[in-house]
Amino acid sequence: MHLTRREVVGGAATLVLGAGLERLVNGSEGTPTGGANLNSETIAFHGPRQAGVATAAQDHLVFAAFDMRSDAADDLRALLEQWTAAAARLTVGLAYEPSSSLDGSPMDTGEALGLGPSRLTVTVGLGPGIFGTAGHDRFGLAGRRPPDLQQLPAFQGESLDASVCGGDLCLQACADDPQVAFHAVHVLSRLASSAATLRYTQIGFGRTSSTSRKQQTPRNLMGFKDGTANIRSEDTQAMDEFVWIQESDGPQWMANGTYLVARRIKILFDVWDAATLEDQQRTIGREKISGAPLGSQSETDPIDLQATKANGELVIPTNAHVRLASPQYNREQRILRRGYSYCENNEPGSGQLDAGLFFIAFQRSPTRQFIPIQRRLVASDALNQHTLHTSSAIFACPPGARPGGFIGEGLFA
Ligand code: HEM
Repeated sequence: MHLTRREVVGGAATLVLGAGLERLVNGSEGTPTGGANLNSETIAFHGPRQAGVATAAQDHLVFAAFDMRSDAADDLRALLEQWTAAAARLTVGLAYEPSSSLDGSPMDTGEALGLGPSRLTVTVGLGPGIFGTAGHDRFGLAGRRPPDLQQLPAFQGESLDASVCGGDLCLQACADDPQVAFHAVHVLSRLASSAATLRYTQIGFGRTSSTSRKQQTPRNLMGFKDGTANIRSEDTQAMDEFVWIQESDGPQWMANGTYLVARRIKILFDVWDAATLEDQQRTIGREKISGAPLGSQSETDPIDLQATKANGELVIPTNAHVRLASPQYNREQRILRRGYSYCENNEPGSGQLDAGLFFIAFQRSPTRQFIPIQRRLVASDALNQHTLHTSSAIFACPPGARPGGFIGEGLFA
């Protein structure tokens, strides 16, 4: 399938039509209006880097993965152009296309009207399939593959459901209002429908990480503070070292981009909830209530992995999660964790919650960061007996778009 230039231009043109209704919807000055629950804070969409990575983690996530049906590079390009133009509007709280015609179906589905921008960010990622498979370079882009964008290897103990893994494209919509995040994915998936098929979605109902010094550390569904030792976006040196792809990394068109790894991790609550508080704390390596490293007083105290008790035993057990995930055990590598709690329908008859962590990590090189850290964790992390990885995906998130440009533009230059 192939979209004509006219269809593409037509798609873009819908963004500027219907100005009359736009004023009605958004106020005569073109500024978004809303009711008492208006959340008016906006996150800039345009810029050298995509939003939704360094952005202080919002409260809600709607994540969506798509498969391209078309093998035409022009269709891919047109879709990225349309997504960029639409996302730029939605993130400032404008309707996608405020059509006033009664005999056409509204292009903006309407459910975010009056809710305000709510710090919406839309982050776009490209999956490995965009760059072809062995012997089939479907878009003619194989020569542009970012070197780290390879399918993740299988990890011991995982139980992946293929229907919620992978994808050619992804959208990470985050906002402080769940309906604003949903609306973005709703509108953008309608735009995709002629060239791509929605593969799966994942709702995240609460952030499990703090990514800014301004934020308090939230708790994950195990009841532990999560994100304490995370990279903070104010630490620009760490962001450059561990998150943003540098020019020297190549390829040139990905400079200022990053790699997104997503893993849906089910928490086995029947086992976890029955564990003693001491076992739970020894599993993580931190105290449950305060978040302090075992043997310390407060959450922000540094972790002393060498500290021993009077009997010579390590204070933080050898298989504690924070020990095995720490930079000291991982060639000083770190990742930016930006995940969300999820809850799905439970398996009929299981009587068990299907809930856990939709883990999202951003990094400069999955080969040096997520993959070896995860290998170390699966080998002996005490958390393994309480968790099960059920989905897996990797995407390259290109740099941000300049006004008038589009996300992924460098891919076609
Ligand atoms: C359901 C699964 C998981 C849960 C409940 C969980 C929970 C936690 C908690 C409570 C902490 C301590 C607080 C903090 O510093 O954030 C932590 C730290 C950390 N976790 Fe996880 N985690 C999970 C999976 C993972 C995975 C899959 C990875 C990476 C492959 C990972 C990487 C890390 C890292 C790098 C740290 C910081 C270690 C440090 O430097 O102190 N976690 N996690």
